[in-house]
Amino acid sequence: MNPKPPKAKTTSDTPTASFVVVANRLPVDRIENEDGSTDWRTSPGGLVTALEPVMRKNEGAWVGWHGAPDEVLQPFEDAGILLVPVPLSAEEVEEYYEGFSNATLWPLYHDVVAHPEFHREWWDAYVRVNQRFADQTAAVAEQGAVVWVQDYQLQLVPQMLRAQRPDLKIGFFLHIPFPPTELYQQLPWRNQILEGLLGADLVGFQLPGGAQNFVRLVRQRLHYQTHRDRINTPEGRTVLARAYPISIDSQGMADLATSPAIEARAAEIRRDLGDPKFVFLGVDRLDYTKGLPERVQAFGELVSDGSLDPEEAVFVQVATPSRERVDQYRILRDDIDRLVGRINGDIGRIGRPPITYLHSSYPKDEMAALYRAADVMVVTPLRDGMNLVAKEYVACRPNEDGALVLSEFAGAAKELRQAYLVNPYDIDGMKGRLLEAMNDSPRSKTRRMRILRRQVFDNDIDRWATLFLDDLASPTA
Ligand code: F6P
Repeated sequence: MNPKPPKAKTTSDTPTASFVVVANRLPVDRIENEDGSTDWRTSPGGLVTALEPVMRKNEGAWVGWHGAPDEVLQPFEDAGILLVPVPLSAEEVEEYYEGFSNATLWPLYHDVVAHPEFHREWWDAYVRVNQRFADQTAAVAEQGAVVWVQDYQLQLVPQMLRAQRPDLKIGFFLHIPFPPTELYQQLPWRNQILEGLLGADLVGFQLPGGAQNFVRLVRQRLHYQTHRDRINTPEGRTVLARAYPISIDSQGMADLATSPAIEARAAEIRRDLGDPKFVFLGVDRLDYTKGLPERVQAFGELVSDGSLDPEEAVFVQVATPSRERVDQYRILRDDIDRLVGRINGDIGRIGRPPITYLHSSYPKDEMAALYRAADVMVVTPLRDGMNLVAKEYVACRPNEDGALVLSEFAGAAKELRQAYLVNPYDIDGMKGRLLEAMNDSPRSKTRRMRILRRQVFDNDIDRWATLFLDDLASPTA
């Protein structure tokens, strides 16, 4: 990427825009190479995957952190988007990003699958950094602009922004699950976060259950009047809380997957794996919510108890490095390394490990080739807001073959009902489903995949953004 000076409208020195996305990360990260030079790389995760195509169409501004500490950068333009970097000090990265966002809120909002830590200094940093994002956004947004704030790292921004700029239309979308009320109540700052979110005109969730949990909490804790998906604030505003299940650029992904270069690469991947009869694939950020150990364990047991022949079936697991300095992520990385090593050591042969484990991130075209190479896609998180990998796999199966094994606890399971659904905590159940997905008749696989594909193509990222932004624009939605 070659950053350029901003082209957007400027008033005095600050460029401004009529559509502004605010997210913890910019769509690109600034990274330092080994020789000391710097470069830009696409940021990890589903949020960027989903929002990039929306932004390309809307030509707005994107306010976010550029991924490196202690660096102040000027706004710049990339592919028609004005990127506005928000600086974070090394201490803020520790306390706001690794601490409050990813060691307090992340586990709390994901069913407490890891223990959330509550520290007052992390909360103070969260407030301070949210205020900085709000200030930066207030400076970039034109009069009457639409501002769309993203995700759990920035839940105070709507209220902080409204305090400075009541002229703005403010939307908020939570990409991760909103927890059951009983879990949410553990949070010492529970009321402040509810009030922060209520600064928006529209608060979006992945699933109706999340929206309902939020409305119930607002009623119980803040005693505001609510009616179904509407909340009346004491100052006389109405806030809507609704579900908008997020999706992908389905056609873009499908076009990529059917290109001759990707088809050739998919064939090459299968050859490199030893031309097995069945390729199982997992693709995840290396996160304890994704259920990696359970999945690897299930596959390993199928091989060791003789249900699967390692000459016939292999498992490829891509784990994208993530939040590597947070303790729980370090522990998980060691656990997975050990588990994969043990399984491959116990049951592998020279040149034929049953599990190929890749701790790395890959560009989109390599991912498309992997999806095309895989007979069974295994997406088994313990809890997940949506999971876009499941949708990407479906978009990349033009021949209506392949099978998707999907956790009941991924938001995507509410839409992708024709997947082979599993409870990832039930290892025996998961083993059964993996075999069923592998051995199902081609006819049944095609029937399932056809319905899944219809779902993913009818409900793509454009539709998601249009539904959200139309509701935000219409005061009587
Ligand atoms: O989808 C959840 C999310 O936390 C996004 O907000 C984020 O862009 C992505 O996962 C990757 O996480 P991180 O920015 O912490 O690497």
